[in-house]
Amino acid sequence: MQFSDVEGDLSEVLLTQEEIHEKIAVMARQIEIDYAGEKVLLVGVLRGAVMVMADLARELALPIEMDWMAVSSYGAGTQSSGVVRILKDLDSDLEGRKVLIVEDIIDSGLTLSWLLGNLRSRGAASVEICTLLRKPDAAKVEVDVKYVGFDIPNAFVVGYGLDFAEKYRNLRGIAVLAPHVYA
Ligand code: IMP
Repeated sequence: MQFSDVEGDLSEVLLTQEEIHEKIAVMARQIEIDYAGEKVLLVGVLRGAVMVMADLARELALPIEMDWMAVSSYGAGTQSSGVVRILKDLDSDLEGRKVLIVEDIIDSGLTLSWLLGNLRSRGAASVEICTLLRKPDAAKVEVDVKYVGFDIPNAFVVGYGLDFAEKYRNLRGIAVLAPHVYA
């Protein structure tokens, strides 16, 4: 889906598909250096990270494995509740593994700081985070993020996996959702 397909619902285009792909390639080159000779386990956080995972995994010139977790902290609104529930756990054993969490966005950071603690307690050799987007609020919580694509303004954004009430995930780029849509 293109921006023009939902134009009335968006107030500002933030990132085009091309800008996203260029950034993912830059992040992939750094990950290849940092994990040279290793087999990384990419852990995607459903459902928002599906697009980042698909593009990052294919861009990486490294042997990888993929696993998925589903957590919930938002419900249908636009504010993080701070209460994280595991909806689907990993299938893999993390003992001794080099784990890289692949995220779409860090907003309050509550979800990721919880997830980081949870995965680190499972005996992984290392657990790091790669996120495409980060909002300024994330700086307020202690989350050690190794790879960040873009720092973006504090607005509710949709597209490239990010939804509002399950819509707009298939938008190719990322845009700010117009306030009238969630008002
Ligand atoms: P946090 O716990 O506040 O960091 O929230 C993280 C999760 O909230 C992300 O994985 C997204 O699923 C969702 N989220 C946060 N900000 C946005 C946004 O602007 N648009 C869509 N989803 C968002």
